[in-house]
Amino acid sequence: MCGIVGYLGQNQAYPYLIEGLKSLEYRGYDSAGVALMNGSLRVFKKQGKVRNLEAFVDGKNLSGNAGIGHTRWATHGEPSDQNAHPHTTQKGSLALIHNGIIENYETLRKELISRGHVFESETDTEVLIHLIEEIQINNHCMLEKAVQLALQRVEGAYAIIVMSKDDPEKLVAARKSSPLVVGMGDNEYFIASDTMAMGQHVNRVVYLDDEQIAICRSTKEIEIKTIEDIPVTPYIEEFDSNLSILDKQGFEHFMLKEIYEQPKSIRNGLRGRITPDGEIHLKGILEHAERFCEAKRIIIVSCGTSWHAGLVGEYLIEKYAKVPVEVEYASEFRYRDPLITDEDVVIAISQSGETADTLAALEIAKEKGAFTFGICNVVGSSIARVTDAGIYTKAGNEIGVASTKAFTSQMTVLTMMALQMGKIKGTIERAELRDRVKELDRLPDLIKQALSGDKITHLIGDLFAQASNFLYLGRGVNFPIALEGALKLKEISYIHAEGYPAAEMKHGPIALIDENMPVVVIANSKENYEKVVSNIQEVKARNGKVIAIIETDDRDIFKLADAVIEVPKCSELLTPFLSVIPLQLLSYHIANKLGKDVDQPRNLAKSVTVE
Ligand code: F6R
Repeated sequence: MCGIVGYLGQNQAYPYLIEGLKSLEYRGYDSAGVALMNGSLRVFKKQGKVRNLEAFVDGKNLSGNAGIGHTRWATHGEPSDQNAHPHTTQKGSLALIHNGIIENYETLRKELISRGHVFESETDTEVLIHLIEEIQINNHCMLEKAVQLALQRVEGAYAIIVMSKDDPEKLVAARKSSPLVVGMGDNEYFIASDTMAMGQHVNRVVYLDDEQIAICRSTKEIEIKTIEDIPVTPYIEEFDSNLSILDKQGFEHFMLKEIYEQPKSIRNGLRGRITPDGEIHLKGILEHAERFCEAKRIIIVSCGTSWHAGLVGEYLIEKYAKVPVEVEYASEFRYRDPLITDEDVVIAISQSGETADTLAALEIAKEKGAFTFGICNVVGSSIARVTDAGIYTKAGNEIGVASTKAFTSQMTVLTMMALQMGKIKGTIERAELRDRVKELDRLPDLIKQALSGDKITHLIGDLFAQASNFLYLGRGVNFPIALEGALKLKEISYIHAEGYPAAEMKHGPIALIDENMPVVVIANSKENYEKVVSNIQEVKARNGKVIAIIETDDRDIFKLADAVIEVPKCSELLTPFLSVIPLQLLSYHIANKLGKDVDQPRNLAKSVTVE
């Protein structure tokens, strides 16, 4: 979490920094700060969102051609002005911003205190700036050397940018397990956690690798070394800065815009991978057909919404490719000495491609010899780069902290993977494969139709917004959708919600049902339809309020339920795509009705780079 940004060039740094920070707020919004160089180093920082910082600096001298900025998701120390970054040294000659966690900070802090250092914040980050200063003074060395030596003593994760009053034409950046990219324009550098924060003048980028340090001087080409001082030839990529433009395009929130973008984002994911007449050509699988066909087992590791997509993938891969699949929370997998062999394929699913637990799970899988495969949205992200192969979801930038379009794009990729594997292994009949692929090709249009039910969903959201608890029920491939619906609601509305397999209700949750409990039942699937109807009756018998997601014209459930949201008829394969749309909209409208901060819900961050 935390977003970092730096600018060095001929223009004023502050406007770039502040715009960069706004586009990085999805990574954390507990406090924000900037340091600017103009003869002296001036630091401005404030608790709360970037707009608080803007109000705080209003009327102050913000000049300077170099600067760094930070937006924080608090780990060590509460959100406060004091704990906000940038951190500076006692002499005020250095300033540093950091994303990550310095795990051995207690040891380093004690050491530094014993040598007379005085700390001003509760953060782990502050030890690093003290250490860099001490090393520089003791060794009379350049800033980059001091940074290298200090980082050699650090355990944990970091993406940092450091600037020095004594070396004003330079920014030094480094990373390990937290993302960092250096963008370049004409005689100017933009450094950031994400290309979304790059100014419109950037035309080339370099993604730093773990334990690399970038030295950016205003009039020279970028220099990259390892923290052990081994020179690295930078791999410079072309960059289209138009891709980083963020705009709500008339929608009230990014989340709503992203929900409505799903016909397009799914179409982007399908393009070039399937044809309307039923052909499938998924390069990521075809190039590694042997590994997938011979896999004894597929293990999917991920977190949150991406984990729910993994559960959908489990149903589909087992059904069409007949390979046993296990879906694991990456955070559990990494700490339980899992039994993995070189005959396993480990798939990591991640929108951001930076989730710390998912990355760590992949490392373990790699150590044990498994073939690793990434399903990521963010191009060039850490997971995309460390895996042996992978497929991009192509959902486009997702800004709303609650994931929506990235989820349906992950399911789209998993569906294509299951079908492609089935084709290679011969576990799916040709005719069936053709039919399934043709259905997939219709999916964007069906999603468009599902979105047209938004008015009803809005009304239902308003009706139920005062409830304190919600239950979500689904069966089969729609059980993960019940989990996802519940997660979406709690994330943005702060209403307690639970997702369950519908048949599990009678094993416990049924005790919760009374006239105050809305139960959202996913009933647009024909598999186990009668059983879902029985579940609805069980809820009604206990005076629970049923909101049912049904196929168009389902008169039976229409008569039974308190409220229904219709989605278009489709094959079983596509039901999770269509049922999740009204659930995303329902949580959006409830949260909005309650006046919550839909795009930046409390305590959350989009990219979870701490474990
Ligand atoms: C929920 C949400 C989170 C993420 C989770 C994993 O709306 O966004 O639960 O799904 O933090 O993130 P990624 O997919 O980036 O690994």
